[in-house]
Amino acid sequence: MSKGSTPDRADFVVVANRLPVDLERLDDGTERWRHSPGGLVTALEPFLRARRGAWVGWPGVADIEVESFSDDGLQLHPVPLSADEFAEYYEGFSNATLWPLYHDVVVPPVYNRSWWNAYRRVNKRFAEAAAAVSAEGATVWVQDYQLQLVPAMLRELRPDLRIGFFLHIPFPPVELFMQLPWRTEIVRGLLGADLVGFHRPGGAQNFLWLARRLAGFEPSRGQVGVRSRPGVVQVGDRTVRVGAFPISIAAAGLDKLSRTKEIQQRVKMLRAELGNPKKIMLGVDRLDYTKGIDVRLHAMHELLAEGHIKAEDVTMIQIATPSRERVEHYKQMREDIEREVGRINGEFGRVGHPAVHYLHTSVDRKDLVTFYCAADVMVVTPVRDGMNLVCKEYVACRHDLGGALVLSEFAGAAAELTSAFLVNPHNLDGVKDALLAALDIDEAEGRRRMRALRRQVLTHDVDRWARSFLEALGAPLVE
Ligand code: ADP
Ligand code: G6P
Repeated sequence: MSKGSTPDRADFVVVANRLPVDLERLDDGTERWRHSPGGLVTALEPFLRARRGAWVGWPGVADIEVESFSDDGLQLHPVPLSADEFAEYYEGFSNATLWPLYHDVVVPPVYNRSWWNAYRRVNKRFAEAAAAVSAEGATVWVQDYQLQLVPAMLRELRPDLRIGFFLHIPFPPVELFMQLPWRTEIVRGLLGADLVGFHRPGGAQNFLWLARRLAGFEPSRGQVGVRSRPGVVQVGDRTVRVGAFPISIAAAGLDKLSRTKEIQQRVKMLRAELGNPKKIMLGVDRLDYTKGIDVRLHAMHELLAEGHIKAEDVTMIQIATPSRERVEHYKQMREDIEREVGRINGEFGRVGHPAVHYLHTSVDRKDLVTFYCAADVMVVTPVRDGMNLVCKEYVACRHDLGGALVLSEFAGAAAELTSAFLVNPHNLDGVKDALLAALDIDEAEGRRRMRALRRQVLTHDVDRWARSFLEALGAPLVE
């Protein structure tokens, strides 16, 4: 990473909990920057790098101060978090309250007043940092559930800015959102933006209803009229637009990389290392309980136990990036998944040939593309996911029209990728049937489906997503 001097104020600023790079402390005491995990960074980084904007975010380690620096033309402005804030704002309110609540309470959310106070305090710090680096009249694009109070806080500090907000995770049904003790503050925080974006129209609808229901009364200023009509909330004399903007990936780059000789060679080597199984199934996820990694393992276990597939013919690879490792439900889920992998391998593996290859690690881009190109069946079975970029990445890499995608109906991507084998992850028999159908698909049918999937992914890339959001925000599209 080439670092330059601290830059001037910027016309286009992204504010996200994480910077696109994470500071990593190695055992020998040295430090290095590495790519941050998750779909938000995957999607936004290529777009922002092409525009030379600024990015305000946390550098990934608590209790450190890092100066602003520039990385290949992108200005990075680190926002510090103390160890207590990391525990209360990030692990607590963001990932043990909001994350499960917004993902359909798949595990019970914890409501803790001290976490809420930390969330407010840290959101204020992000708003102040964004205010400090934004030029007069700049466009500021605030990202995701960790920063929902920032739009209103930033507007208070800098009424001259054009402020957009995008939520990268699902926005929950009204009945679930209403559980949140601080529901009104969150809705008012979001209404500080000029445009609030969601992946799916359903999320936008839910938010419009809640804005009308919850946001009308401001104690400090008396009654403020809040009205909503399709796609618009009127807050006093301000108009807030609300809409759906399904996110995507930088598809052309993956398509190009997947076509290289180097990747083709690596695919051959990988298959040989695995003992040239007839079929490879693949899962790639952050190790998160929303991703349904357990669902696919249970399905695999039953298919093996019932003799529908044989371990010498079908190998499964599960690559899981470590994530939020101190949060209780994540610890529990990791234990469950690793126990299930051990059980399958104990029952069905042979020496040197496990039925499931499980890697608890993040892999680099070339390795990732190699895995995608080698996989006969890509298994994406979240119980709830805002979009899910992994399935789009798989499709972008299959220029050969090979492979088949098994995709949960509860991923935002299912609305676009209708030629996948769509499954309800709560229906284990349905998942097993879909896996068998995908493993046995005839070549012509597989090519037909993959062609349709690729048409969608390659024409609806992340650049198109970002442009449509910024156009709706009325922001100048700086090249
Ligand atoms: P989320 O944002 O919830 O993690 P997405 O599917 O939207 O889920 O995005 C995940 C991103 O992280 C994708 O770009 C994917 O390639 C990447 N990723 C997930 N797991 C790994 C892994 N084990 N190694 C490398 N990249 C990974
Ligand atoms: C999802 C969230 C992002 C988050 C990412 C990784 O994509 O929408 O906001 O950055 O997961 O999670 P982490 O907690 O490691 O930042």
